Amino acid sequence: MSVRSSSLVALIAQLCLALPSPSPQSNASNPSPYPGLGDGLNFNATFTDSPQPFQLAVDPGFIETTKLKASLYRPSRDIAIDDWEDGPQQYNMTAVRDWWVHNYSWWDVQSTINQKYQQFTTTVHSGENFTHPIPLHFAHHRSNRSDAIPILMLHGWPSSFLEWDQVIDPMASPPNTSLPAFHVVAPNLPGFGFSPAPAYPGLGSREMGQAFDNFMHQLGYDRYAIYTTDLGTFIGRWMVSDAEASIVSHLTDFPFVTPNATDLARYAANQTTPEENAFIEEENNFLTEHAGYQAVHSTKPLALSQALTDSPVGFLGWVWHLVQAASDVYQYTPQQLITNALMLYIPGTYGNVRSYKEFWREGALNDTAYPSSNVPTGVTQWPSAFANADVILSRTVSGLYTVQKQGNAC
Ligand SMILES: *[C@@H]1O[C@H](CO)[C@@H](O)[C@H](O)[C@H]1NC(C)=O
Ligand SMILES: *[C@@H]1O[C@H](CO)[C@@H](O)[C@H](O)[C@H]1NC(C)=O
Ligand SMILES: *[C@@H]1O[C@H](CO)[C@@H](O)[C@H](O)[C@H]1NC(C)=O
Ligand SMILES: *[C@@H]1O[C@H](CO)[C@@H](O)[C@H](O)[C@H]1NC(C)=O
Ligand SMILES: *[C@@H]1O[C@H](CO)[C@@H](O)[C@H](O)[C@H]1NC(C)=O
Ligand SMILES: *[C@@H]1O[C@H](CO)[C@@H](O)[C@H](O)[C@H]1NC(C)=O
Ligand SMILES: *[C@@H]1O[C@H](CO)[C@@H](O)[C@H](O)[C@H]1NC(C)=O
Ligand SMILES: *[C@@H]1O[C@H](CO)[C@@H](O)[C@H](O)[C@H]1NC(C)=O
Repeated sequence: MSVRSSSLVALIAQLCLALPSPSPQSNASNPSPYPGLGDGLNFNATFTDSPQPFQLAVDPGFIETTKLKASLYRPSRDIAIDDWEDGPQQYNMTAVRDWWVHNYSWWDVQSTINQKYQQFTTTVHSGENFTHPIPLHFAHHRSNRSDAIPILMLHGWPSSFLEWDQVIDPMASPPNTSLPAFHVVAPNLPGFGFSPAPAYPGLGSREMGQAFDNFMHQLGYDRYAIYTTDLGTFIGRWMVSDAEASIVSHLTDFPFVTPNATDLARYAANQTTPEENAFIEEENNFLTEHAGYQAVHSTKPLALSQALTDSPVGFLGWVWHLVQAASDVYQYTPQQLITNALMLYIPGTYGNVRSYKEFWREGALNDTAYPSSNVPTGVTQWPSAFANADVILSRTVSGLYTVQKQGNAC
């Protein structure tokens, strides 16, 4: 990635605070006599060829059935082992179960989303390698400022457009004119939140990137910036090449760089610097200790989803271990964990979990799989991305590593 000084990137960093649906899933064919247990969308939405205002209305029967299932959660018996080494433990899981059953209100959350966000639905198209229409749900907050910069913000897994909950308002309406303003476009990736999952294979990171570029043009933005994290970064790394002429800059907090054979040979020969050692060891630690979920998601997403989609608390536990491992010392509250889980559980987990299979087919973590680009790119790296590392490292387009001491990115 090229890291260049760019006032946009620097300024974004300052802001960091921290068709009727083509879905083949039809309620008409739902054989279940019980409400809320079908495999449909579970919310009302229409997706036409242009942006239409949208208010979220999830099926009450589905929410009630999900709460009932949460109440029937069967814990796994703990053994004498270090806290969370194998996964979230029983006392943590049952505490969340209790909150879901006694204290959680989806209707409060839905009402807040509807009040806070200007939401829309539309349909977009990719290119020659994925020709099916792609229905999208998104938040679009236009700034009042005449100098505002359009920006596309792409989340990852396990997340949704709510990833940007804390920044959309300050970015669209900064407190004064010494800060940049943005027209913020925050879609849910297909299969996440309220963007229906693709019904056909082939929608990988590159095809999504082509669709998101067409999407920005549909909104009238011919030149725009992108901010990406996690899976969104894989999409962004295709976009800066396939849509190079449209993209002003790319800022990512997920600069995943894989050491190549030369780097590993230097490491084996004790020729790498202490910073490079820390990076290689932490990355190796992540890939061996924490990346099992990627292996399953990218190979047997449907087999796994048979369990995840059937157990809301079980799905939350699967998500919780990963977000806890990647969150420094921040502890998510039951309220946050349940909302986060529901954003992926309401549409069903298969569609979002399966993104890995498409993205890994196209290289994903192999940074040499992506074409180089002249789009100015900024990276931030956080201690949590590599649990104990105090370094940041990225490979420039010219192929050099740059290593800096980690500071507080925000
Ligand atoms: C969805 O739309 C149908 C048909 O208009 C309506 O009967 C139903 O109440 C709506 N559901 C929700 C959750 O708004
Ligand atoms: C799990 O529960 C224990 C006991 O209440 C608490 O100390 C700990 O912080 C919880 N872990 C997480 C990750 O929330
Ligand atoms: C959660 O619900 C329980 C049972 O209704 C209640 O006793 C408790 O006060 C609630 N906690 C909060 C923080 O609202
Ligand atoms: C479609 O896929 C082929 C094979 O991977 C690739 O060569 C081609 O560039 C792709 N086209 C687009 C528009 O992505
Ligand atoms: C944008 O400007 C309008 C008209 O001046 C004003 O009513 C509105 O509150 C402003 N919105 C924001 C987010 O500043
Ligand atoms: C603008 O707002 C930011 C954030 O609140 C603040 O740090 C900065 O000092 C303000 N600048 C001016 C010129 O008021
Ligand atoms: C690696 O090099 C450092 C610095 O020269 C040296 O202190 C250390 O003993 C070497 N380690 C091995 C395993 O050779
Ligand atoms: C690994 O990357 C370095 C720095 O970009 C480069 O000099 C070297 O040729 C690469 N090695 C391989 C095997 O690609």
